[in-house]
Amino acid sequence: MRAAVFGGGPGGLYFAISLKMRDPAHEVVVLERDRPGETFGWGVVLSDETRDNLYANDPVSADLIRQSFAYWDDIAVHYRDTVVCSGGHGFCGIARKRLLNILQERAASLGVELRFETEVKDPAEFADYDLIVGADGVNSRVRAAHADVFKPDIDVRACNYIWLGTHQKFDDAFTFIFEETPHGWIWAHAYQFDTDTATFIVECSEQTWRNFGFDRMSTEETIATCEMVFARNLGGNSLMSNAKYLRGSAWLKFKRVLCERWSYRNIVLLGDAAATAHFSVGSGSKLAMESAIALANHIHSEPNLDSAFCRYEEERRLEVLRLQNAARNSTEWFEDVERYFHLDPVQFNYSLLTRSQRISHENLRQRDPAWLAGAEKWFEKQATGRPPNVARPPMFVPFRVRGVELANRVCVSPMAQYRAVNGAPNDWHFVHYAERAKGGAGLVFTEMTCVSPQGRISPGCTGLYSDEHEQAWKKLVDFVHAETEAKIAIQLGHSGLKGSTQLGWETPDAPLIDGNWETIGPSCVAWSTGNPPPREMTLADMDKVRDEFVRSAEMATRAGFDWLELHYAHGYLMSSFITPLTNRRTDEYGGSLDNRMRFPLQVFHAVRKVWPDEKPISVRISAHDWVGPDGIQPQDAVAISRMLAEHGVDLVDVSAGQTSVEAKPVYGRMFQTPFSDRIRNEVGIATLAVGNIYEPDHVNSILMAGRADLVCLARPHLADPYWTLHAAADLHYEGVTWPKPYRAGREQLYRLKARAEAMTGKV
Ligand SMILES: Cc1cc2nc3c(=O)[nH]c(=O)nc-3n(C[C@H](O)[C@H](O)[C@H](O)COP(=O)(O)OP(=O)(O)OC[C@H]3O[C@@H](n4cnc5c(N)ncnc54)[C@H](O)[C@@H]3O)c2cc1C
Ligand SMILES: Cc1cc2nc3c(=O)[nH]c(=O)nc-3n(C[C@H](O)[C@H](O)[C@H](O)COP(=O)(O)O)c2cc1C
Repeated sequence: MRAAVFGGGPGGLYFAISLKMRDPAHEVVVLERDRPGETFGWGVVLSDETRDNLYANDPVSADLIRQSFAYWDDIAVHYRDTVVCSGGHGFCGIARKRLLNILQERAASLGVELRFETEVKDPAEFADYDLIVGADGVNSRVRAAHADVFKPDIDVRACNYIWLGTHQKFDDAFTFIFEETPHGWIWAHAYQFDTDTATFIVECSEQTWRNFGFDRMSTEETIATCEMVFARNLGGNSLMSNAKYLRGSAWLKFKRVLCERWSYRNIVLLGDAAATAHFSVGSGSKLAMESAIALANHIHSEPNLDSAFCRYEEERRLEVLRLQNAARNSTEWFEDVERYFHLDPVQFNYSLLTRSQRISHENLRQRDPAWLAGAEKWFEKQATGRPPNVARPPMFVPFRVRGVELANRVCVSPMAQYRAVNGAPNDWHFVHYAERAKGGAGLVFTEMTCVSPQGRISPGCTGLYSDEHEQAWKKLVDFVHAETEAKIAIQLGHSGLKGSTQLGWETPDAPLIDGNWETIGPSCVAWSTGNPPPREMTLADMDKVRDEFVRSAEMATRAGFDWLELHYAHGYLMSSFITPLTNRRTDEYGGSLDNRMRFPLQVFHAVRKVWPDEKPISVRISAHDWVGPDGIQPQDAVAISRMLAEHGVDLVDVSAGQTSVEAKPVYGRMFQTPFSDRIRNEVGIATLAVGNIYEPDHVNSILMAGRADLVCLARPHLADPYWTLHAAADLHYEGVTWPKPYRAGREQLYRLKARAEAMTGKV
């Protein structure tokens, strides 16, 4: 086979080596526009896993690479005159130039033809080759030549960075340095990659970059400025650029590249040309080299290029996507880092370490148990004011708001049961909620409990608008207080335009087969084409609904609930006022966000007046309509939360969606937590996170990183009412209270777990 490889970076060279090794008869030429030894950038980081993969593929080059590695174990974070250092991270780095030299020599020794200083101008000139590999980097010309087929999606990210080097030693730790300057925050990612050189990537926001005047500076002036900014970490050493081969400024913005297809006829994309991963997860070279192995394997084993390309994509796409997801989280963390500058150094460091969501609380415990224990103690001290002797997982640290103290930070999220008759809670509700309160959660929410018969979602929804309802709820509240340490919250809501619909396990959101009642909303906008439009509310309707909320809040007070939540999410009445998708009013209750928030805030104030001072009110919102700019987006959720905070709401319960049938939510593990993170850290109000959070590790990571103050789990509590007690046992935490009659079960559970772990060798 005659193969032309465009680009002599790690991807192209390693592919050439891998193909030649599989069959020396292949004729392989690598075309590289630069001279050997010329390269942009300094060191690259590789993981243990990548080293193993390289060894298995080609021990000769792997050995040479290994001999050139610089190793380090710690991550040090310089921030606000402190240095927080954690261990166990295990990296190694190599000079990019050295890596390329090794690969060039190895390729030449295998008979690969290397043509340097050869710029591929028109890929069509290579039409007589059997195979064309586009390994020509992030700005790939081959990709551009067939953009209609590859369909690249290029996202130019917000921060500016410059890839510099220095002889200052950073050989004890991968180092992040955050500096506050009169122009704004600027930071560096630094690590050693050979005995006397370190990579030093400087990064900042566009605003800071302009404030510094970097847009008008030469590379030399930029370097001089960066040397001044980071002087206390450079020990008198200078910064160096090797970007003289780059056209234009040495400052860049990272380009995230995705392609719908990676191959076309006999052309295939590899490395950065096909997909990039942000440098803050240090995996671009790894991806390129591992993809090169896969491509060579499949070309060797498959009968034709079509099936080889197909297998190559099959094998690599998922891995690339996984890394790109982690890289996106990490990129966004740095882009939004100014949000976290109010955090204490311990929490800031934790947030940085867990930014990609690939490293969790328990991963950190494995890496550096002493550091994590210190961080857990810090968390407890700042929450309770008392320094603990022994660290405990963040989820078991009490939470206090107004006069209410929760024993821990796990909440049973509100979940409609659809079991009520005429709004009255019955034995089902008593057993259901009592079980979850016995299960150890710090706070148990009731389902959305409706303020009037008309305000019910379905005929099975609970209400709080009659004496019978009040008495039934009181019986439950009394039991929870008498028999458990849990606190219990009532969630009050009105269904609005999503009312008069079927039970959750029938056709949700569809009108009843018969017995429908009139629905109301801010405007005459129907939920879907299958639902009748609601009647547009008059001012008198609004007064009436406000008074119904007040009446229910008074009943909740008498029933003894500890906490009240207003349901302003999921497209129900209050939510339908907030989102422009369903609020088309032209009076003072529609239009601007101030206007759309007017009625929900009036209801909040009226409820707050009758709700006891010592008890908190949370408000659940939909932080994202998932419909693009026409609906609520996370930045709007920040504005909404800011208004709620200014009006005296204690916590925002950050949910999302269910406000439009057009919504295209992006699901995933903890998928709504970023909205909570943003609201908590930009507005400074306490939040509850919810949505696909199901492991104790998720809960601890969210809390410890300051992404929320409390965590709600819904479906996991349907599967396991004792979720919190079981989580405590999994974490070897003994401080949770089991109901007295169940103690024998507790002893057995802890004993069996200890025995199982001893047998599997786990601590
Ligand atoms: C600041 C920064 C830090 C990074 N740190 C790390 C890290 O620590 N670890 C890591 O694994 N990755 C890191 N990366 C990513 C890594 O550099 C890339 O992902 C990796 O180099 C991709 O390899 P590649 O072979 O696909 O592309 P490249 O390395 O970009 O190679 C492409 C080659 O093609 C040549 N070329 C382009 N167009 C033509 C043409 N028309 N004709 C001929 N030749 C052409 C170029 O000169 C270049 O040599 C970092 C990237 C940046 C920007
Ligand atoms: C059966 C069921 C009923 C629900 N009812 C309500 C409700 O009454 N009020 C509410 O705010 N959210 C309700 N939700 C949403 C949950 O509180 C939660 O936000 C959502 O299920 C995501 O959390 P999870 O991934 O832990 O399940 C309900 C969810 C389920 C599964």
